[in-house]
Amino acid sequence: MSNLQKERVLEVQHWNDTLFSFKTTRDQSFRFKNGHFTMIGLEVEGRPLMRAYSIASANYEENLEFFSIKVADGPLTSRLQQIRPGDEIIISRKPTGTLLTDYLLPGKRLYLLATGTGLAPFMSIIKDPEVYDAYEQVILVHGVRYVSELAYQDDITRVLPENEFFGEYIREQLLYYPTVTREPYANQGRLTDLMRSGKLFEDLGVPQPNLEEDRFMICGSPAMLKDTTSVLDGWGFKETRQGVNAEYVIERAFVD
Ligand code: A2P
Repeated sequence: MSNLQKERVLEVQHWNDTLFSFKTTRDQSFRFKNGHFTMIGLEVEGRPLMRAYSIASANYEENLEFFSIKVADGPLTSRLQQIRPGDEIIISRKPTGTLLTDYLLPGKRLYLLATGTGLAPFMSIIKDPEVYDAYEQVILVHGVRYVSELAYQDDITRVLPENEFFGEYIREQLLYYPTVTREPYANQGRLTDLMRSGKLFEDLGVPQPNLEEDRFMICGSPAMLKDTTSVLDGWGFKETRQGVNAEYVIERAFVD
């Protein structure tokens, strides 16, 4: 129990029937790196029921933010989706994870490839001014089934570009590419197909990725991770492993 602390829910946003996000208080001593995940949960029948969640807020923000799927019969998310401001959330003090820019070789462009709730850690990373010093361009690709799942779109396209401290970075260096697979939208198709066909790079106006300049962080379902890394592996990119930095890092988007 010593690693667990209690925080209060401040705000809950329901994006649609399947997705919601919420903000909580943050203990001043709670430290993490942008891209980290931690265990969070609720007390159920007197015991903590915990799952891994990426932290969607940046490490300098006053509050913590999490982005979650709603699973009707999910042991945690069936309960978590009911939370309201004032409720208590349990948070582990030991954030960890592999989606850190520290674990990549230097590069020119940083791709953040997400499907579904895999967006969460990248919401933290795109708010990190250091990332814009390290890379000329940061390219956020978010693949979802339905338009209503394009959570945080307004923050990415409207709120963050106006931020008084780092809005200029966002306006000048962040490219956002939302893509939808199961209904009409401006961009359509799985990100793996868009990469293989080259359409993603054409649409973004960037060169085909090359080993010298391009770096990738990937967060999605196990199948998405497998297929996306196989595209990158086919192009000669390598995953950071056992402390040896390479061209890409991955993390599973956690679901209940
Ligand atoms: P699709 O609609 O073709 O299955 P999910 O909610 O299942 O995680 O899917 C989120 C998004 O990721 C959807 O657009 C889905 O496309 C896409 N997706 C699912 N599996 C893969 C995969 N193996 N590679 C790339 N994209 C995937």
